[in-house]
Amino acid sequence: MSKLWGGRFTKKTDQLVEEYTASITFDKELAEEDIQGSLAHVTMLGKQGILPAADVETIKDGLHRVLQRIKRNDLEFAIADEDIHMNIEKTLIDDVGPVGGKLHTGRSRNDQVATDMHLYLRKRVVEFVDMLHKLQEALVTQAKANIDTILPGYTHLQRAQPILFAHHMMAYVSMFGRDIERLQDSYKRVNMLPLGAGALAGTTFPIDRHFVASQLKFDRVYENSLDAVSDRDFILEFLSHASIIMMHLSRLSEELILWSSTEFHFVELDDAFCTGSSIMPQKKNPDVPELVRGKTGRVYGNLVGLLTVLKSLPLAYNKDMQEDKEGMFDTVRTLQGALQLFAPMIATMKVNKDRMRQAVNQDFSNATDIADFLVGKGLPFRQAHEVIGKTVLYCIQQGKYLLDLTLDEFKQFSSLFDERIYAVLQPENVVNARNVFGGTATKQVGEAIVRAENELAGT
Ligand code: ARG
Repeated sequence: MSKLWGGRFTKKTDQLVEEYTASITFDKELAEEDIQGSLAHVTMLGKQGILPAADVETIKDGLHRVLQRIKRNDLEFAIADEDIHMNIEKTLIDDVGPVGGKLHTGRSRNDQVATDMHLYLRKRVVEFVDMLHKLQEALVTQAKANIDTILPGYTHLQRAQPILFAHHMMAYVSMFGRDIERLQDSYKRVNMLPLGAGALAGTTFPIDRHFVASQLKFDRVYENSLDAVSDRDFILEFLSHASIIMMHLSRLSEELILWSSTEFHFVELDDAFCTGSSIMPQKKNPDVPELVRGKTGRVYGNLVGLLTVLKSLPLAYNKDMQEDKEGMFDTVRTLQGALQLFAPMIATMKVNKDRMRQAVNQDFSNATDIADFLVGKGLPFRQAHEVIGKTVLYCIQQGKYLLDLTLDEFKQFSSLFDERIYAVLQPENVVNARNVFGGTATKQVGEAIVRAENELAGT
């Protein structure tokens, strides 16, 4: 059979043009969604009396057979049939005969492809929310196991103030929590039906778009036919949210890579998540976080790519829009790959509590606290800051830490010091002194863990 749109043409399509314009090599991923959409459409055509019931049944049976063949991998798609929509329609017509040609009544590929994309992304959004919950669970489990593990917290990658490792894990739980919220919010705009918009202007047939929407479990119907076929915002939103998720994963990756180094040695990733070197026998490389960090680039690229495709594009459908797919599929695969590995990698990670503790004992991350101590004695904070700055400088010159100084040494810097500072300087006390909502005190972090657990239990 020749092209489904061949009537107006007198010449065959150039072979190279056929290959250049075809999307079947990648949009075959939408096969199931395409059939799902067609089943709803043809059911509606029957209900509205646009097609006789017998034709509707024939077409539905045919579509089910095509679906079975696709699932069995027993259908060869043809470049000559351009895309998934026409490959399926042609296969249907081969199967049921010319009556199959009635399926496309009152429909265009423009509203059809948009519908397929909505159906596809709707599923992915739900899956990604679920994967993010699993990652949060792994992080919460590590937080619980490390509610008493203290490590230096950093700013500028310089030791700043001691914090609980649990607090650090819970920071990521919050970040991924926002990612979940964003995805859930975008669901409203993914869960909309474009079908019925026709090519751009609607259709002359008395269709029932709301019936199709309810069949496909869409909450809403696009209100404007031009908008329905031109809109790719929902894909851009997904690509943006995916970019932010990857950005979060890449920050965690960077920390895991640093922490796995001999210099830090704060954590050890499980052997199952690392690889060796072909030349250096001692190596154990954190390839997974490195690749997640690296693959963040292509996810950003896919977002910028589609933004650029859509920029200045006139309404309504333009072939440019076929370029919305490969980047989206690539982002879906990249994000699936990363999230799938991250949860078990976090869950199996060994946390080197002793090494973290040793680091805290050998730094000045408790300096803010004796400044606060002097403030408690009535010294203005600026002066206290100056006094402690001098004290720290003295320590550095003497090769000591604050806890190594005698009270006499302290008193050289301020007569306000007394023996209570030794307790103030203990890392546990430094941590627990930050007992404000959202702070690193054990009590606050413990409560944050309970809140997160309750939320996860409700999902
Ligand atoms: N393969 C096309 C795409 O992905 C389907 C829509 C084609 N519509 C058209 N008028 N050529 O965008």
